[in-house]
Amino acid sequence: MKRPLRVAIAGATGAVGVEMVKSLERRSFPVSSLKLLASARSVGKKMRFRGEEIAVEELTDDSFKGVDVALFSAGASVSKRYRQAVVDSGAVMIDNSSAFRLEDDVPLVVPEVNPEDVAKHHGVIANPNCTTIIMLVAVAPLHRAFGLKRLVAATYQSASGAGAKGMNELLSQTRALLAAAKDMEELSERYRDVLSRVDPPAAFADPIAFNVFPHIDVFQPNGYTKEEMKMVNESRKILHDPSLRVSCTSVRVPSLRAHSESLNLEFARKTTPEEVRAVLASAPGLRVVDDPAAGRYPMPVDATGQGDVLAGRIRQDISNPDGTGIDMFVAGDQLLKGAAWNAVQIAELL
Ligand code: A2P
Repeated sequence: MKRPLRVAIAGATGAVGVEMVKSLERRSFPVSSLKLLASARSVGKKMRFRGEEIAVEELTDDSFKGVDVALFSAGASVSKRYRQAVVDSGAVMIDNSSAFRLEDDVPLVVPEVNPEDVAKHHGVIANPNCTTIIMLVAVAPLHRAFGLKRLVAATYQSASGAGAKGMNELLSQTRALLAAAKDMEELSERYRDVLSRVDPPAAFADPIAFNVFPHIDVFQPNGYTKEEMKMVNESRKILHDPSLRVSCTSVRVPSLRAHSESLNLEFARKTTPEEVRAVLASAPGLRVVDDPAAGRYPMPVDATGQGDVLAGRIRQDISNPDGTGIDMFVAGDQLLKGAAWNAVQIAELL
């Protein structure tokens, strides 16, 4: 497809959908027409694209006639519901949900890592989980250089991971707590009491303001959460290594936007922080921010709004005496590289 494309975005009014519109614009994607789709609640809302106002339409089975590429970010059930309608219309679906990621005939693509997989699609291409994308932009080039044997990750995931309602819940709980408590002692003593009187949590199972909790998505029989198992299974699929050893603890933290991850990597051969920095310096989609003496390391506030993943705190793992271990910290905007930006990059590969 060399001509400009007719694009639709399902879930255009959501936290990721809004970033999809902006990413098409920022990346100068060749759009000949843009359809913005959401639920009936949003019909008539207007959104701006390249200086023009576009009215949001209701998502229906008929929405995809004359569409080349449909970007989906309205949740897994919506993706499942409309998959056939998209495929029947001849459009290619690029789906941000977890609905089809592990299906054999659905490529799961990070353009910097496995762009060649796009060619294997049968009408649907899946966008990986946000923390998996952010991690693999940094890990895949190191895997190619040194042969990854084992990976242990701990994530620090922002409120934005639960969409606009997650960010609103963080802000409203923080406001309520600050308004009700005069000092630190009062804040900690009255924490549960104050939160019991604001809107009941909708986006998260636990309080998000001034708290962290190791619970993202549902618990599985093996004691991991579904989010943690996405890191395991999606990394294996994207790196084409079904036996790769991966473990993860996913944690929700009260940063507003952009996810961070602490990564412990074990390679087949010895490596040094200098070699790792040299490989990452020329890796696409990544910026090395690694000067601790000057206070420079990856942080979610600096990753926010960036298409690139930030990598730093690169050091030898001292618990691994044979020199094959590396520790590092990465941060990436989960709404952009972890979702919308990656989806638009996949569309570019088409
Ligand atoms: P709407 O704004 O009309 O509810 P977020 O992840 O930020 O919560 O956003 C979810 C996105 O998915 C929104 O654009 C929302 O539209 C859209 N959405 C949710 N459920 C449906 C549905 N059943 N049909 C169409 N769009 C939906």
